[in-house]
Amino acid sequence: MNLDETRENTLTDKELIAPELPQQRDPKNAQLKSGWYKVAASEDISQLEAIQIDDFPTQIVIWRGEDKKLRALDLYCKHMGASLACGEVDENGIRCPFHAWRWSGDGLCNEVPYAKRIPPKAITRSWEVNELDGFIYVWFDRQGKSADLNGEWIDEFSF
Ligand code: FES
Repeated sequence: MNLDETRENTLTDKELIAPELPQQRDPKNAQLKSGWYKVAASEDISQLEAIQIDDFPTQIVIWRGEDKKLRALDLYCKHMGASLACGEVDENGIRCPFHAWRWSGDGLCNEVPYAKRIPPKAITRSWEVNELDGFIYVWFDRQGKSADLNGEWIDEFSF
């Protein structure tokens, strides 16, 4: 174990989670109704690929896992703010390009390669994703209510 690894193992949770992250837009500021918003075509994301979506109330990363299912999280890693879209899809999770923390689709970090434990605050926001007729939709609700399959499917929007 080198000096850096030793230091990482002794950092507190507060030190591990960077207080200032890149500008993740607050989705509550978006004046949009609740619904499923079309963000990409299904063919835009192959198995084990990730893309960044900016045309949404906040920036997100969407990836297709080994199981071919889509998952989405806030774009910026809650550790030190790297773009997860530059990371690597690992099984059904996404591994951050900076320090290789692996995030699952439910927003939990499930692996920190160099640490003995996962910091309790290593949680990020997840987004519900669906595919319909060859397109990818992400659920948005300003109050953060759960996705509703009977909700509106919205193809054109601006925020
Ligand atoms: S920025 Fe460190 S793991 Fe993502």
